[in-house]
Amino acid sequence: MVTQSYSDADHFDKTDVDVFASVSDQVAMAIERKTYEMRLKEAHDALEMRIRRRTNALMKINRRLESEIRKQEQTENILRESEARLIQSERLAATGQLAASIAHEINSPLQGVTSLLNVMRREYGRDNQLAGDLELVQGAFTSISKTVKNLLDLNRPGKEKNRPVQIQEVITQTAALVKAYLKDNHVRLELDLPAALPPIMGSPQELSQVFMNLITNSVESLNMDPTYSDRRIAIEAQTAGEQVEVRVTDTGIGIGAEDISRVFDAFFTSKKTMGMGVGLSICHRIIEGHNGTIEARNLSDRGAVFTIRLPVNDPST
Ligand SMILES: Nc1ncnc2c1ncn2[C@@H]1O[C@H](COP(=O)(O)OP(=O)(O)OP(=O)(O)O)[C@@H](O)[C@H]1O
Ligand SMILES: [Mg+2]
Repeated sequence: MVTQSYSDADHFDKTDVDVFASVSDQVAMAIERKTYEMRLKEAHDALEMRIRRRTNALMKINRRLESEIRKQEQTENILRESEARLIQSERLAATGQLAASIAHEINSPLQGVTSLLNVMRREYGRDNQLAGDLELVQGAFTSISKTVKNLLDLNRPGKEKNRPVQIQEVITQTAALVKAYLKDNHVRLELDLPAALPPIMGSPQELSQVFMNLITNSVESLNMDPTYSDRRIAIEAQTAGEQVEVRVTDTGIGIGAEDISRVFDAFFTSKKTMGMGVGLSICHRIIEGHNGTIEARNLSDRGAVFTIRLPVNDPST
């Protein structure tokens, strides 16, 4: 602010000075306020920037934490599943041992009876009626012996399984065995088996027993609903990485939701007096003995599916 006079030295008096002083005070205050305002804005901007940076960093940490929690949950799930599988295997192993010891106990008297029967047949061979009866009894005892032997074989650890097996051949042979049974029950069997599947290591007899049990179960499930006319069982095989995967599906009534976790348990059956509940526990034990896995699921529309995975035979190991 300027005021000037080049001619009159007394041109200004105290009032002018007061006016100047008061105006310049106000201007100074305005300038000062503006300066503070600008500093405040700078401080505010800087603060906002820091908050934004921190928030970004926090969000990153959050995302990492979330992904770690997810990973941990997955690991926990896998652990829980293997634990359940372990409990099931232990339970099955215990039942297997029990069956083996019972079979063993039955075996000794059986052998005694069989040799006695031989003696009796020699002794009374001339009496036709008696000889015929003795032969019937011997036939029955042979059948019991076979069952007992199978039971013992099934539970013998380290039993010979070491031969390359083409699973598609086992399935076709089993299908031929059950052809009449399927026809009687009006069930169509569809096979989708690639000719060039890699071999697995195993016992064809045992694996055939697995498919026999699965097919029987499927037929029984189809028979639970006689009103449904699309009666089908499908068996498909394929290579899945280092494994051969076989899926047995049916159009039956499916597995009860509350039963799905128990179907492989020994003596679990939903068939009341019709079933013993041993078929699937035997399947489970056989597949485990082949270092494979078997699982049960319901299909989304109708019926059940059993998936078996067996390791491909690697000749280099
Ligand atoms: N294909 C299937 N569809 C629906 N439920 C099934 C099927 N297969 C098995 N299940 C269920 O699993 C249970 C156990 O099967 P598992 O073969 O072990 O015994 P089971 O058939 O009842 O008796 P067993 O085989 O000793 O004659 C069955 O009772 C049934 O509830
Ligand atoms: Mg069964």
